[in-house]
Amino acid sequence: MDKITLHDREFEIMIPAEKIEEAVTNVATKISNDYRDGERPLIVSILNGSFIFCADLVRKLDILCDISFVKLASYEGCSSTGRVKELVGVNCDVKGRDVIIVEDIVDSGVSIKFALTMLRSMGAKSVRVCTLFFKPAAYKGDEVIDYPAMEIGNDFIVGYGLDYNELGRQFKDIYVTR
Ligand code: IMP
Ligand code: MG
Repeated sequence: MDKITLHDREFEIMIPAEKIEEAVTNVATKISNDYRDGERPLIVSILNGSFIFCADLVRKLDILCDISFVKLASYEGCSSTGRVKELVGVNCDVKGRDVIIVEDIVDSGVSIKFALTMLRSMGAKSVRVCTLFFKPAAYKGDEVIDYPAMEIGNDFIVGYGLDYNELGRQFKDIYVTR
């Protein structure tokens, strides 16, 4: 499919599934190499957006890891509200762990800052960020984004877990609205 309609908007294809797979493989290789000699990392996947990315990423790691989920929300429609809501919190022991946050997309950086602060306050030994997409031009944060799988401009995209008002997560390719 080259075009999809979600609610009131049209989206056209931007990144095919094969390109996404390549980027996920590359980032999984980096993470495996960086954590191979350390303690087993704890992956904390931020729901809902990262569910597909995280599932593909962990299957490409060649090191052992623990996996947990938190649920945060900051977006309504095509823009960030600037506030982050914690809908489901971390339910495992983070103290002393090397944590890797897995996010679908880092935009203004408000959500990732919230997650970093939360995990550090729970006593994580280290916290790094892995995100499928990074929008450098929109990013206002001061935290290093350690593992951006792909960088994009100030576009609004859906597919591969990302949604427009809860629709579009199911698509294997990435679509953009103009
Ligand atoms: P931030 O807090 O502004 O960095 O926004 C991060 C969150 O907003 C992500 O976890 C997504 O849920 C959502 N988001 C940001 N940009 C997009 C986009 O282009 N498409 C879909 N969701 C997005
Ligand atoms: Mg998200």
